[in-house]
Amino acid sequence: MINVAILGFGVVGSGVAEVLTTNGESINRRVRDEIRLKYILDVRDFPGSPYAGCFVKDFSVIEQDPEVDVGVETIGGATVALDFTRRALQAGKSVVSSNKELVATHGYELLQLAKEKQVSYLFEASVGGGIPILRPLTSCLAANELTEVCGILNGTTNYILTRMIRGGLSFEAALKEAQANGYAERDPSADIEGHDACRKICILAALAFGQHIYPDQVPTEGITGVALADVAYADSCGRKIKLLGRAIRMEGDKVCAYVAPHLLDGEEPLAGVEDVFNAIAVTGNAIGDVMFYGRGAGKLPTASAVVADVIDAAKNIGQRKYLDWGPGAPDITVSPDVLSDRWYVRAQAPVDEVRRRFGEVQLLARPGAPVGETAFLTGEMTLPELDGKLAGLQADSVIRMFH
Ligand code: HSE
Repeated sequence: MINVAILGFGVVGSGVAEVLTTNGESINRRVRDEIRLKYILDVRDFPGSPYAGCFVKDFSVIEQDPEVDVGVETIGGATVALDFTRRALQAGKSVVSSNKELVATHGYELLQLAKEKQVSYLFEASVGGGIPILRPLTSCLAANELTEVCGILNGTTNYILTRMIRGGLSFEAALKEAQANGYAERDPSADIEGHDACRKICILAALAFGQHIYPDQVPTEGITGVALADVAYADSCGRKIKLLGRAIRMEGDKVCAYVAPHLLDGEEPLAGVEDVFNAIAVTGNAIGDVMFYGRGAGKLPTASAVVADVIDAAKNIGQRKYLDWGPGAPDITVSPDVLSDRWYVRAQAPVDEVRRRFGEVQLLARPGAPVGETAFLTGEMTLPELDGKLAGLQADSVIRMFH
């Protein structure tokens, strides 16, 4: 018998209970043992719940019960969740998590603790929700030198951008719709300002390149600066605006990682990823390009990944399931300023002036553009080079610039 305790009975935690119950028989067959949901930790009461006998409010009940083999941390955040995860691992229990903030900020420390205690710390659901990505990255692609991981890592922002592109909704209206549909949190700042995608690219980079990358090492821009005008200009040149998280292996085992809106060519696979879907493209020296696509959020898709980790942990009781990376350091990362790109610029500036500074540019047009507005795609250049050329334009004349 493998005993499981769910820590936090929110959307994902209740989905885990549902999947464990609904698919119990087939899960037990796979594990060749019985998985029992023994505890659910939550400060709230859930009268009439089918799991009535499982609820506890005090974590130490779980911590001190030697029968508990696996803790499922679906609390979120990096305070209480960190304390409970440390204590569960210390107590010799495996921990499975969907908590990207915790893994991105404390993953190295927690993996070390798991190693010391010979238990598993698994977090497939922390990136891409239900999409299998972390296990394929570390197992199926293990033969490769990975060179880049790039993805649409946040369902809420992808939904908002899709509604702006396809429905002509303003950013504010699309955000309200996302909230009404239950995609965006009531406080959507982690999504729309890019922090959620940042945490996920940190985890992907750590697994792909073997060193902990902390969120404060990753320059992050969300989608709050994307306007319908930019969507229209992008459309005029066959492009779609997408929020990407990118991590690139650089010379000397350095990593360049950032999160920012990009104007993607409509033919690129990531440009076709719409609504709340996520996709992650991985490049390796043997496989070439491979892409993972699916539901990046939601109760049951996320629970699907969590329960798969529970099964893995259950199969490996007493012999830690291996997942690892090295410690972080400030000099591991290099600034994205070194990368060359074609930039999209929208400015209040005369075309002649733009041409004088940039030479040949691809001018863009949109219906109803105000007089004096110029939008264009530059040739390949780095951000400092772009800044240098834009510096001479009248102060405040640059309205937007994206990759
Ligand atoms: N808020 C996240 C998203 C949930 O919209 O993608 C899944 O991590």
